[in-house]
Amino acid sequence: MTERRLLLLNGPNLNLLGTREPEIYGSTTLAQVEESTRELAAEFGFDLRALQSNAEGALIDAIHAARVDCAGIIINPAAYSHTSVAIADALSAVALPVAEVHLSNVARREAFRHHSYVSAVADVVIAGAGPLGYAFAVRYLADRIVS
Ligand code: DQA
Repeated sequence: MTERRLLLLNGPNLNLLGTREPEIYGSTTLAQVEESTRELAAEFGFDLRALQSNAEGALIDAIHAARVDCAGIIINPAAYSHTSVAIADALSAVALPVAEVHLSNVARREAFRHHSYVSAVADVVIAGAGPLGYAFAVRYLADRIVS
């Protein structure tokens, strides 16, 4: 039986949410994002494992660990979206449903943010909805994962 657990990953600099460029990323903190995502996941019967890291390897290790006890992954890879073949490869390797979230609408920002290696392996990409994007991701995965 599929484990009723989702992995929520947030990449570099997202620990500063709430104070980091609030005109772009809003005033919601990472703790608030994790709490509301956990609450919504619970409504769908999912446990949530949340991790934020500024280190690429730590994110990759968490993706590998999800292979054995998670049913899906919500990831905001932050700047690693635009640089990390390694994170994209890890997501492909574990073969779980993946929802990629960006708080800002990356398509409307600098050109270097327009390409994401992760989008090529994600099942859904949600950008520009602010913290609501994480809620959309939970709803998508809950619908997608059959128990
Ligand atoms: C981000 C967008 C990225 O381009 C940026 O590097 C981030 C955050 C977002 O949530 O909008 O750190 O992923």
